[in-house]
Amino acid sequence: MVFEDEQQSGSDGDWLVRGSGDPEEVAAYYDRWATGYDDDLDSWSYRAPSVVAGFAMEHSAPQRILDAGCGTGLVGVALRAAGFEGELHGADVSEESLRLAGETNAYTMLTTANLQEPLDFDDDAFGALTCVGVMTYVPAVEDAWREFCRVVEPGGVVVVTQREDFWEPRECPMVIDRLVADGTWEPILVSDAEPYLPGNDDYTDEIGVHYVVARVR
Ligand SMILES: C[S@@+](CC[C@H](N)C(=O)[O-])C[C@H]1O[C@@H](n2cnc3c(N)ncnc32)[C@H](O)[C@@H]1O
Repeated sequence: MVFEDEQQSGSDGDWLVRGSGDPEEVAAYYDRWATGYDDDLDSWSYRAPSVVAGFAMEHSAPQRILDAGCGTGLVGVALRAAGFEGELHGADVSEESLRLAGETNAYTMLTTANLQEPLDFDDDAFGALTCVGVMTYVPAVEDAWREFCRVVEPGGVVVVTQREDFWEPRECPMVIDRLVADGTWEPILVSDAEPYLPGNDDYTDEIGVHYVVARVR
């Protein structure tokens, strides 16, 4: 991927909107953007981390949470602000983002992981799992959501976001229904598309975000 000089530490709107399913390309992009990420997302009025943290705390009382695709740690910080005091594991493919997540002191453990592969965690290892802003980069939605459910104990919750423009093309409603049909999870909330990055001209009202909160069975 080629970056313009002036974009070395910033984001590339076209790339962000398009997304990528190539973990190496994604890692390189987020490694490069990591130092500017929090300020950029703040300037775009990114609320998803605090919304998801609120859902996780409202619908579960976990001792251990996995933040899948933790990035620079915005969700971890939001979980701590929402009162979570247990073990918090973060996993991401971007080493530089993980380094910055470590500086938040929100996480108990941080691991390099590719969410397009099976997770290196035992069955039922967590009481909740959060995955915020990540599914853009994970085309095989059903594989990932089934893996999320595997590592969360029965009764725990999975809280994920999915961009509006990937919702139907990646058949998310059908995936949700299949996981219900075979007894993998029970949805608590499947939201309509809500504002995602209202301060970013590339997204504005065009690209919202769906929140999915589901209880693992
Ligand atoms: C938009 S950021 C979201 C970060 C954080 N969850 C937040 O809400 O600020 C997307 C994150 O997903 C991570 N990511 C994308 N594809 C991944 C994959 N296959 N495995 C692990 N992490 C991935 C990126 O490295 C990046 O940190």
